[in-house]
Amino acid sequence: MISSTFERHFGAPPDVLVRAPGRVNLLGGHTDYNEGFVLPVAIDRAAWVAARRLHAPEARVAALDVGETATFALEPLTPRAGEWADYPRGVAWALQAAGHPTVGMEAALTSTVPVGAGLSSSAAVEVAFAWAWRTLAGLNIERAAVARICQRAENDYVGVKCGIMDQMASACGQEGHALLLDCRTLEVAPVPLPAGVAILVADTGVRRALAASAYNERRRECEEAVRILSQHLPGLRALRDVSPDDFRRTAHYLPEVVRKRARHVVTDNARVLEAVAALQTGDLARVGDAMRRCHVSLRDDYAVSSPELDLLAETAWAVEGCYGARLTGAGFGGCAVALTDEGAVEGLVAALETAHLAAFDRTPAIYRCKAAEGVAATVYSPGSEKTSAEKSNR
Ligand code: GLA
Repeated sequence: MISSTFERHFGAPPDVLVRAPGRVNLLGGHTDYNEGFVLPVAIDRAAWVAARRLHAPEARVAALDVGETATFALEPLTPRAGEWADYPRGVAWALQAAGHPTVGMEAALTSTVPVGAGLSSSAAVEVAFAWAWRTLAGLNIERAAVARICQRAENDYVGVKCGIMDQMASACGQEGHALLLDCRTLEVAPVPLPAGVAILVADTGVRRALAASAYNERRRECEEAVRILSQHLPGLRALRDVSPDDFRRTAHYLPEVVRKRARHVVTDNARVLEAVAALQTGDLARVGDAMRRCHVSLRDDYAVSSPELDLLAETAWAVEGCYGARLTGAGFGGCAVALTDEGAVEGLVAALETAHLAAFDRTPAIYRCKAAEGVAATVYSPGSEKTSAEKSNR
C-alpha cells in the first residue's frame, strides 16, 4: 500500500523505500541527556520515505500527509526552524557537518506515528531521511552514528535540545525486543519481551506548546545538580555517575527543586537496570512496579506529568492483568504506556476509555504496539522492477 502511494506520487517506482520506526519508552524518563540508561521499544508505526536520486544538487521533498512540498539547495544550509522540511534539511546539514557528502534527492514522506504524542514522530522522520541519503549516496555510516547525526540535526538545526534515545531506538530497534541503551557509550543490549505480553499506548490528545521550554528547564536543573555535586563527588561528569548511595550522602547540598530533579534521575537509572534484570527472569510484576514507581517519580520529583497522564496511569494500575503503566516521552501531555498480559488488553482498553471520557469528556486514542525492527531500506533499480531487498548492515 505504501509503495503504491509513492508510485502514484513519482509516477514510477522509487530507487529506495525506507521505513524508520517511532518508539515507546518503557523506563528511563529524562535519563538520556543525563548520560544514563533507558529502555525503549521501536514500534510498528513508522515514517516512510521513498526517494530517488537527482543529478541536481538539491532536495525536492513532499510531505504526503499534509500535501506540502519544499525544494532546497544542498549547499549552503544554515540552521533555521519553522516548517516540517527543516527535518530533511537539518539531516542534510548534519550529514555534511559529519563529513558525509549528500546527493541530490527527490523524496516523499508519509508517517503512521502520531505527531507530537511522545512517540518520536520527528526522530522517525530524521532517521528515515538520513537512511535514504545513506543508501542513495552509498555512505557507510553505522546505526549509532546515524542516530548521532539525526540528534545533531534536531539539537542544532531544528533547535530542540533532545537526548539520544529516540534516534537510537529508531535506528537500532529489534523485533520482539526492548533495548537497554547506555546513553553514555551508546551500547545497545536487546532484551527479549516475554511471549504473552502486550504494549498498549493511550494518547491523552494533549499537545503542549510549553513542553519544549519546560524540557530545557529540566536539562538546566540537572546541569545545576552536576555542578554542585561535582564539588563533593570527584570525577562526576553527569547525573549518571551518581549512585543512590552517593545521592543519599550529598543530596543536602542541593536546593530543593534541583534535589528533586536529581533524585528522579538517580532513582530512575537504577529502576531501568532493576527492570532489565526482572525482564530477564520473567518477573513482569516487578517490571510493572518499576514503571509505576517511575511514573510517581516523574510526577512528584520531575514534575512533568499532567492530570490526564496521572489518570491514565492510575487507571491502568488498577486493572487486573496489567503489570504497570507510566507516562512516556517528555511528558506534560502525549501518551501513557502500559505493559499488560495479552488476556487483559480488552479490559484495559475499556477501563482507560471509560475513565478518560468521564473525567475529560474525550476518548483517548489507543495504540496497540509491537516491538519492531529499526530503520531498514528496500532498494529498487531506478525506474525498474524491484531488484533486491536490503536489511542494511547491523
Ligand atoms: C523526549 C526526548 C528524549 C528524552 C525523552 C524523555 O522524547 O526527545 O531525548 O529525553 O523526551 O525521556
